Amino acid sequence: MTKEHRHEGKGWGPAESSRALVIHPIIRIKGEPLRSPDARLEEAIGLTQAIELDVVHAETIRTDKVSPAHLIGGGAKERLAKLIKNEEIDLAIVDSSLTPIQQRNLEKAWECKVIDRTGLILEIFGARARTHEGRLQVELAAMKYQRSRLVRSWTHLERQRGGLGFIGGPGESQLEIDRRLIDERIDKLKRELERVKRTRELQRSARKRVPYPVIAFVGYTNAGKSTLFNRLTNSDVFAKDLLFATLDPTMRSVELVSGRKVILSDTVGFISDLPHDLIAAFRATLEEVLEADIVLHVRDIACSDSEEQLRDVETVLASLNMGQSVPVVEAWNKLDLVEGEERKALLEKTLRDENLIAISALNGEGCNALLSRLDDLLTRHNTELELEIEPWDGKQLSWLYEHADVLQRTDTDEGKIILRVSFAADMMGKYFSSYPNQLPEDDYQDELVLEDEDETRIPFDPLK
Ligand code: GTP
Repeated sequence: MTKEHRHEGKGWGPAESSRALVIHPIIRIKGEPLRSPDARLEEAIGLTQAIELDVVHAETIRTDKVSPAHLIGGGAKERLAKLIKNEEIDLAIVDSSLTPIQQRNLEKAWECKVIDRTGLILEIFGARARTHEGRLQVELAAMKYQRSRLVRSWTHLERQRGGLGFIGGPGESQLEIDRRLIDERIDKLKRELERVKRTRELQRSARKRVPYPVIAFVGYTNAGKSTLFNRLTNSDVFAKDLLFATLDPTMRSVELVSGRKVILSDTVGFISDLPHDLIAAFRATLEEVLEADIVLHVRDIACSDSEEQLRDVETVLASLNMGQSVPVVEAWNKLDLVEGEERKALLEKTLRDENLIAISALNGEGCNALLSRLDDLLTRHNTELELEIEPWDGKQLSWLYEHADVLQRTDTDEGKIILRVSFAADMMGKYFSSYPNQLPEDDYQDELVLEDEDETRIPFDPLK
């Protein structure tokens, strides 16, 4: 099989065992701090391995002047062409944004498939999306990406199918047909997404009745969220050294030392330079965070880009408008990788701030302390609930008015009373022991695991 055949119309998912080259062009953008190129290259290698590609060679490339034709300079381009040939590499990943022209020129020069960071992230999101909504969001982003490529590389794609080509119908150029098909698909996806979102909102409001506080895990990709989630829940969520192991939120309940039950919610990892259209997909997976009682920000404290990652995560959290009242606790993870003076200084910092805690999700160090800290914070934190009361139950009503904050009362047409109530943690415990009928069904937890039964993957190919 020739190389060309192997590249035709295929994604580079797990089934494909390709020999890949990864390069990270070092491009200085005015006014932006330069991240560590080595850490960026490491991240790009991790992303590539996440879709099980075999990374044969990786390097950073100084790019003082960006070439409109090839992005990187001529010398590097020729040298890499030889390497690609000698090493029989079939896929080159350029960890940057490539114009369609640059992509095409590099493919010609290197005689192999070339994809940029956006293409790679789309591929990963496509492979990892688990729920229906996640998959729709990813396909939508992939379609928009493909459409932008069609527009800008029109000279390459345009092909007449007969007629004069001035009007639509049979005279349309192939490009216009492609574009129209993509637009139709985009419209369909948007409608479907609206429908799925509405269902999800209904599910979520049903879940609000769960009388347990929610702790949402957030963090940069590979920070160790899933490892921590598994350690704390003893569950078996997909935790491997695969970036983006989690795309859609997963929830489990655990019991804290005080006996209080809480819901832990794992979310997808953050990443810098997210393709614009993927931000919506990504934020959709974070809606759980808005309802959290505590946000647990898991950080890889041993990573040289830890501070930049912190900024990225904080920027996204700020854009979610989750309100000032939700406390954010930072779990400084991978403590086992930090030694000597650095470790000492780090521990001292965390001791001075109750919202910081040093842990190792890998060996368990600090994890019990983390749980107790969450317990303490929750004791001081009120929880809001919606309760349905029968109109004849005046005793329960007056108990609630006396011991909790009634935020809103609605008398329904069916004669029921719906109360929105804010409880202090100790009062909530007393309430549920007096009125256990208000507790949700025992099997509510099954509903909390937002797995989608439909396992079919949406066929899309951002690499076409
Ligand atoms: P995404 O799903 O990409 O968002 O990643 P994540 O934040 O869920 O990270 P995950 O738990 O998958 O961990 C990523 C890698 O870091 C895995 O190889 C883990 O074994 C490793 N890791 C997690 N916690 C620790 C830790 O405390 N110490 C060390 N040394 N490695 C850790």
